[in-house]
Amino acid sequence: MKFCNQYMSQKNLGVLTSGGDCPGLNAVLRAIVCSSDQRGFKIIGFHDGFEGLLAPDAFTVLTTTNTSGIMQVGGTILGTTNRGHFTIKAEAGKKVLVPEHVVKKASQICHDLRLDGLIVIGGDGSMTIALQLYQAGFPVIGVPKTIDNDLEATSMTFGFDSAVACATDALDRLHTTAASHKRVMILQVMGRHAGWIALWSGLAGGADMILIPEIPFHLEKITEEIKRRSAQGNRSTIIVVAEGARAQQGKQFSKGTMHGESRLGGIGEMLCHEIERRTGQETRVCILGHLQRGGAPTTLDRILGTRFGVKAVELVDQKKFGTMVSYHDGSVLDVPIAHAIHRMKTIPPDHQMIEDARAIGISFGA
Ligand code: F6P
Repeated sequence: MKFCNQYMSQKNLGVLTSGGDCPGLNAVLRAIVCSSDQRGFKIIGFHDGFEGLLAPDAFTVLTTTNTSGIMQVGGTILGTTNRGHFTIKAEAGKKVLVPEHVVKKASQICHDLRLDGLIVIGGDGSMTIALQLYQAGFPVIGVPKTIDNDLEATSMTFGFDSAVACATDALDRLHTTAASHKRVMILQVMGRHAGWIALWSGLAGGADMILIPEIPFHLEKITEEIKRRSAQGNRSTIIVVAEGARAQQGKQFSKGTMHGESRLGGIGEMLCHEIERRTGQETRVCILGHLQRGGAPTTLDRILGTRFGVKAVELVDQKKFGTMVSYHDGSVLDVPIAHAIHRMKTIPPDHQMIEDARAIGISFGA
């Protein structure tokens, strides 16, 4: 193989970013490169997620020079995808299985590159693939990312704080226009089947109502609350709705499926129509969409990303393969990857933040 000799003499560490992008990915990459530099590791950055493992030249050698200044840049310099040869993704909770011939081909390339470790930065789907590769003999370490914050075994993923900051900023802006026009304003945020972004931004952005998948709502309760608020003299009502929220006895709204996975969407428009029809109040909806995934990471995500990158390299050095970096009570630890993917981390309906929100009069429409 053409690159065997080139990489034979030193420790080589592969890294890839997989799944949907989020702010903070470049902070992790930079930290991996900087701390590897101290330990004498060479970093091979694979392009476009796991797809980069299938082409012999789909990588860039990352150095402290070519990763300088990337921490504050959104997205990922390596590229990513949530599609491709490794993605046989079924609905939430179901297993992802990569075909054996794909695993074999990737394995050959990692072998030819003499990889001593492979760091996979991704969410639940990517961690499921990472575990399969680990079980097939790859020296894998996982780093949890997702704006949804729905990965078990870590109290926070990087990317989440930046998405919440974006949604909070949107709410600040919506407050002033809603009050000027005496309107009901709905902000639809991402999060898939978990309501973390809606709950956090709703609290930070002073929402009057927060609708999340974990607490199915009653349309009647929502409209009663809006009427009550305007009878009290409030000029506007601000509602944050998670894309995965649904009515009691209702289904999640979906814009169809793509590659076996449901694309959530439509709940905001439905609420807008129903609220206007039932209350007679002018109502508008704002779909925040991918703005939540773009742009510079917040301070917290830069720090979390950096600490995750440092820990991942340490785990490779300790040969603690099959583990994922995780965050608990201010410390960065490691857990078996399997612990992170056995179920999705949703919000327990009796979560203290929900009780706090209720205590200040926020309605969950239930
Ligand atoms: O998982 C991250 C996420 O942004 C979800 O919140 C959202 O439902 C989905 O990805 C959107 O995916 P895509 O970028 O493929 O439209």
